[in-house]
Amino acid sequence: MVQIAPSILNCNLLDLNAEVKKIEQADWLHLDVMDGHFVPNLTFGPMFVTAIKSVSPLPVESHLMVTNPDFLAPLYAKAGSQRIIVHAEGVTHLHQLIRNIKEFGCQAGVALNPATPLSALEYILPELDIVLIMTVNPGFGGQELIPEMINKVKDLKTIINKRNLACKIEVDGGVNFDNAQLLVDAGVDVIVAGTLIYNNPFPSDIIGKLKGLSKGR
Ligand code: DX5
Ligand code: ZN
Repeated sequence: MVQIAPSILNCNLLDLNAEVKKIEQADWLHLDVMDGHFVPNLTFGPMFVTAIKSVSPLPVESHLMVTNPDFLAPLYAKAGSQRIIVHAEGVTHLHQLIRNIKEFGCQAGVALNPATPLSALEYILPELDIVLIMTVNPGFGGQELIPEMINKVKDLKTIINKRNLACKIEVDGGVNFDNAQLLVDAGVDVIVAGTLIYNNPFPSDIIGKLKGLSKGR
């Protein structure tokens, strides 16, 4: 089954409690953490993880689009994130950071911006629970998916299968029903979607439809 991780980036933040309840059928809650340096936007501090977990049963994955993940990752782990995803482009000692994240008992993932090659993962892939392939340039929701990223997913799936690894593949940005099946066919295990889910009056219907996408078609 495809897992769904709604992003609350573009939800109605003035009614966060209700918005979080609308996505309870999902598998994860995707928290887009932006520091205004790594990306030109500023969003959620660790206290949002704690607040969200007080009203939602969903595990929280914190997508850290930040220039100092060594400092921030432990804060999001302590606040209750079950998974922490850091950008390969934003860290110097990636192997050590992934170790630290797992020592907090969190799943660990690495995100790649669209232009970053898969080779950046070569010596860390066996340590990862998940790779997040950015299908837009990070910073904002509601963008168009970059179609070349579908082949990037296919190439990553080939590498994971060849190395017989258990690492999952997640995509983030611009996912809609024109590209979702193509992404699943390419090997995606987890879909992040924000606009597609929250721009619909019935987010749970959208989550159900995304979950129904068949793998291995
Ligand atoms: C970009 C963000 C977005 C968001 C989902 O930095 O990570 O990709 O999660 O975007 P949409 O609204 O396109 O699903
Ligand atoms: Zn994200």
